[in-house]
Amino acid sequence: MEAGHTHYTPATGIPALKQAICDAFERDYGVKYKPAEVTVSSGAKHAIHNVLTACCDPGDEVIIPTPYWVSYSALVELVGAIPVLVETTEESGFCMTAEQFRNAVTPKTRMLMLNSPSNPTGAVYPVEALEALARVAVEKDVIVLSDEIYDKLIYNGYTFRTFASFGDDVRERTIIVNGVSKAYAMTGWRIGWTLAPANVSKAIDGLQSQQTSNPCSISQYAAIAGLNGPQECLSEMLVEFQKRRDYVIGRMRSMPGISFADPGGAFYVFFNVSQHFGRTLPGGVVVDNASDFCTALLEQAHVATVTGDAFGAPGYVRLSFATSMEILERGMDALEKFLS
Ligand SMILES: Cc1ncc(COP(=O)(O)O)c(C=O)c1O
Repeated sequence: MEAGHTHYTPATGIPALKQAICDAFERDYGVKYKPAEVTVSSGAKHAIHNVLTACCDPGDEVIIPTPYWVSYSALVELVGAIPVLVETTEESGFCMTAEQFRNAVTPKTRMLMLNSPSNPTGAVYPVEALEALARVAVEKDVIVLSDEIYDKLIYNGYTFRTFASFGDDVRERTIIVNGVSKAYAMTGWRIGWTLAPANVSKAIDGLQSQQTSNPCSISQYAAIAGLNGPQECLSEMLVEFQKRRDYVIGRMRSMPGISFADPGGAFYVFFNVSQHFGRTLPGGVVVDNASDFCTALLEQAHVATVTGDAFGAPGYVRLSFATSMEILERGMDALEKFLS
């Protein structure tokens, strides 16, 4: 701000930030993008809305594996397109198979929205599973929006692969969404971006320049500092998150009447609470579904979670471990007591 970076910038981001995004992507994943293929937006959510608006017509179908991040279906509906939900299960690690993808494609299919690591499940697609999806995308000529916002939060034993890395025929159908919100814990700065083929980027650029103009100038400079600065903070943060994750899932494994697939990334545990349905709690409260469960957990144990209904997965509840160990310990004690 003192340097005077407080005025309008180019609508889709300053060149130095676009270059920093390309450099970081190549440094981390070995895939090259040009600044003309980057659009910087006011957060990853804004970037997703831009992509859908630029690429989908009313009536187009967008395939979304469930459970999915709550905004996906709402954003698809906002542009008049139709969310096609494909159910995945805890047993399959909440990953959609290539066969499920192929079966969901119709002549109206425009896009697949993929999110690995996933919010809400923490699922990380194995590399072979991703590659199999990529082959179907090429075969069926479907655009893939790959939301890679949790790419830097990957736990021991799991591997992240960007969807753009499976060859030119895949890259030309892929739109990567990412940003500084999760990797650098800069949620409030509101900087996200897309990496997309130049023709798609051009369409997104035209849209954004009329709708919102540039993302906050000050935040853009802050994002450059994040991307070009020392990266040790990422591994330090990951060590902390690994500890929190191991602690939380260790505690939850021994709690009665719940089950979950271990999260390979992100910072959530998505657990099945349906065994508790039909129970009557002290005070006569009956738990019939995941929303009842969350309300009772909040009111009686003061633990805040989100019902799986919001993510297209009734019977489940999402817990976030993006908080201090001290709060997690208190939360786990309270959850355990509540479940018992
Ligand atoms: C899967 C996923 N995509 C995108 C976003 C949005 O990120 P941003 O805060 O940069 O808009 C979130 C935020 O929670 C998310 O979980």
